[in-house]
Amino acid sequence: MSARGAAVIELAGVSKSFGGVTALREVDFTLRAGEIHGLVGENGAGKSTLMKIIAGVHADYAGRFLLDGRPVHFRTVRDARAAGIAMVHQELSIAPDLTVAENVFLGAQLTNRFGVVQWRRMARTAREQLARLGIDVDPGRRIGELPIGLQQLVELARVLFSGARIVILDEPTSALSAPEIERLFATLRQLRSQGTSMVFISHFIDDILGVADAVTVFRNGRNVATMPAREASKGSLIASMIGHGHAGLEESYTQGIPLPPAADSPVVLEADNLVLGRTLRGVSFDVRRGEVLGIYGFMGCGQIELARALFGRARPDRGAIRVAGRKLRRASPAAARRAGIAFVPESRRAMLFHQEPVYKNVTISVLGRLSALLLRPAQERTLAQRQIENLRIRAPDADALLGTLSGGNQQKVGLARWLSWPPRVLVLSEPTRGMDVGAKDEVVRIVRELRAQGIAVVIASAEPETVLAMADRILVLRKGELVKQFAGEVVSKDRLLEAA
Ligand SMILES: Nc1ncnc2c1ncn2[C@@H]1O[C@H](COP(=O)(O)OP(=O)(O)OP(=O)(O)O)[C@@H](O)[C@H]1O
Ligand SMILES: [Mg+2]
Repeated sequence: MSARGAAVIELAGVSKSFGGVTALREVDFTLRAGEIHGLVGENGAGKSTLMKIIAGVHADYAGRFLLDGRPVHFRTVRDARAAGIAMVHQELSIAPDLTVAENVFLGAQLTNRFGVVQWRRMARTAREQLARLGIDVDPGRRIGELPIGLQQLVELARVLFSGARIVILDEPTSALSAPEIERLFATLRQLRSQGTSMVFISHFIDDILGVADAVTVFRNGRNVATMPAREASKGSLIASMIGHGHAGLEESYTQGIPLPPAADSPVVLEADNLVLGRTLRGVSFDVRRGEVLGIYGFMGCGQIELARALFGRARPDRGAIRVAGRKLRRASPAAARRAGIAFVPESRRAMLFHQEPVYKNVTISVLGRLSALLLRPAQERTLAQRQIENLRIRAPDADALLGTLSGGNQQKVGLARWLSWPPRVLVLSEPTRGMDVGAKDEVVRIVRELRAQGIAVVIASAEPETVLAMADRILVLRKGELVKQFAGEVVSKDRLLEAA
């Protein structure tokens, strides 16, 4: 083990482009032994690309890469693994149909000396490792059945306990609750004390400042600053990420914001006494035309299930959903869509088509309507191009494959599709997850635009800032029950947290 402080990874003058797009320009980056190195930057700044070079995903790049002072050039992920480097990718790479234990040991199954897979031992070890992250889950469960936060933890366990001495975590906390994040950080600190070096990418600057020893800021493919974390502040990091001061979602909301007086426009959506197992215990509310209703609660309090139920993705045991006074007879996405409800889920991966061009992803939700209008491909592209510009999606053009966009930009595509063909009700689950501060402000702007068009918007989120920045009225959900409503009054982050 090298002494703390010695450079384990040194990149010098690393550049990388994809076709015409330059992702990295002459980047220098040093990771020291036993350090947690935070990496921040706007969507598309090049963070994931640099880390994928270290992890052997991208072999085609220019510049020098020293590992323990010796030049290396990984050709494959396997090369990097052999050198003790492992990465948790921004997009979960779990196999939904395998069990929890199989996922923990994905690609590294435990076998005895005859090469026979030791299922019992794997299950036991998986349970122990997950327990270190504070998770109690049956290792035999199919992972696809678990909530996304647990899936993320299983993936983290796989990499953190793989024995790698250099671990890269690309946005590992986006689906985790506050206590889960705390346990993750405790594990990271423990690994650090054992000499593991880690890179931690996140848009949550408080998280970075809470756990990192050093911070590097990326802007537009460049490393614009590296500093000890104790010399960095939230404001200074955001300023160097964006290049200028920023308000919007990064406001602290400690002063509180005034909610507008209650809307008196017609009710568009009504939820009446929704019951769903133990996650929703009789939830009733309504949303009016041109109103943004925020549903806030800690992770796991039922807001995700509620959003899914509104779109017919989850089938309530009891209760009714009415749109413009008409009861939905069946709980199904098709019925919800017919009634004019649109849904952007928290896991946008499932609804996007990575091998298709951006423009198809923007227009796909409306293909029914498009074909009715006999829209030609050229018009389809024009429509998409307008939304790309409107949302400032960083893509070379509308024909770029979606899979080539940065994570945050892919999410903007998920929202873009609703702008040209507004639904009656738009349900957004965790709409700003994985987005940088600039992109979050753009989501705020889009939601305001939709509201101005008379759409009823429901935002379910465990991020208080997200709800405070957008909602006209806020409902607080605790363990599946609505416990508080904020309307026509001043509400601060503290009051919101207190109520939950
Ligand atoms: N496989 C690829 N093919 C083409 N272009 C790519 C590919 N991967 C990344 N890019 C481009 O490289 C640039 C940097 O992307 P990268 O994914 O590194 O950003 P990021 O900083 O991780 O952003 P985010 O916070 O949104 O995840 C972007 O313009 C992106 O579109
Ligand atoms: Mg990324």
